[in-house]
Amino acid sequence: MNKIRVLSVFGTRPEAIKMAPLVHAMAQCGELESLVCVTAQHREMLDQVLQAFSIEPQYDLNIMQPSQTLSTITVKALEGLEQVFEQAKPDLVLVHGDTSTTFAAALAAFYHRVSVGHVEAGLRSFDKYSPYPEEANRRLTGVLADLHFAPTRQNALNLQREGTVKNVFVTGNTVIDALRTTVRDDYRFELDVLNHLDYRARRVVLLTAHRRENYGRPMENIMAAVRDLAARYKDVLFVYPVHLSPYVQQTARAALSGLGNVLLIPPLGVLDMHNLMSRCYLVMTDSGGLQEEAPALGKPVLVLRRETERPEAVQAGTVLLAGVEYAGIVSAAARLLDDADAWHAMSRAINPYGDGRACRRIVQDILYCFGRVGAPADDFVPQ
Ligand code: UD1
Ligand code: UDP
Repeated sequence: MNKIRVLSVFGTRPEAIKMAPLVHAMAQCGELESLVCVTAQHREMLDQVLQAFSIEPQYDLNIMQPSQTLSTITVKALEGLEQVFEQAKPDLVLVHGDTSTTFAAALAAFYHRVSVGHVEAGLRSFDKYSPYPEEANRRLTGVLADLHFAPTRQNALNLQREGTVKNVFVTGNTVIDALRTTVRDDYRFELDVLNHLDYRARRVVLLTAHRRENYGRPMENIMAAVRDLAARYKDVLFVYPVHLSPYVQQTARAALSGLGNVLLIPPLGVLDMHNLMSRCYLVMTDSGGLQEEAPALGKPVLVLRRETERPEAVQAGTVLLAGVEYAGIVSAAARLLDDADAWHAMSRAINPYGDGRACRRIVQDILYCFGRVGAPADDFVPQ
């Protein structure tokens, strides 16, 4: 019998991190032929991940431009994918999450009448403009998808409420599979300065901020809050790997350069990032992926957003929505820095997002949908 030809399309750092273990799992399966196309919506930040996980894409659209607009990304990806689909002739296209690449690739596959599998399906904030444009991207992708790999039961329920019930599988999030391969006690950092920090003697707060809906006032509030927290807590080191977006670079540097206890560094390789997270005291972030990874490592998270489409860890009490106002951010961080009990209460390691077996489930579910095995994988159930 012919192998099922699966083309995974991704373009940004987080998609690559979360698709990498799946690409490897599919390569191990004798019934699948796994091909990769990167749009390279991100360039350097994508290449860091491809290198870390030793993935060599068969196709690279290389579309990134400085300060690119949402329309340019979508149009260039959509056009570029035409040729790729004609050459690769996939039986199934896999997309991930909620980026412009995700939506464009799902649409391109639909135009070619190729089945679409949506990995990390069903997350919803129920606010079309936040996260922007991601909430709309994942809804639109959901409409185009034929197979839906929902990380959690809650995500599957979101799809069900919208009338999507066929081929919805609860798999866990592949990011937890990735995390199981990256974190080690004896890890040595590529960025040498991180090898010389004494994480027991000096608390490290890991900060990231990059979201488009936070551009402008919210980002300025976040930066002002961090600047003042750094002034108040001189014994704490704030480490901020700054996203390469020109807007984020400019805003972060204007607010935080030259402070003795704020380390502004380039985007970290994923191995450095995961291992730094496992050693830090607290995470402050507007990232989606960090909200899933940090709870698995037992690290409290303050989310620098008004909402989250990842409510599971908030409900479990290890992630707190701090918002995007100066006072709310400062008081939430101060509480965790001043009050050991409050910090301990948020520092339990929990795994509401996965058990490290998401990729295995997704492979089995693909085989099931193509009639190669008799049953789908058992649902992921958090322990
Ligand atoms: C994108 C995704 C967002 C995801 C984020 C992860 C969309 C609309 N947004 O947002 O969902 O959370 O990636 O990081 O798809 N740049 C570089 N080198 C890189 C990467 C980015 O120089 O390797 C700069 C470029 O100037 C680029 C800009 O960053 O134009 C913004 O990149 P873009 O992909 O448009 O948006 P993100 O904010 O990264
Ligand atoms: N990450 C990384 N280096 C960094 C910042 C983040 O490897 O300097 C990883 C992080 O561990 C997570 C993913 O990138 O796996 C999250 O990506 P990002 O925050 O850019 O996007 P989001 O998850 O918000 O879409």
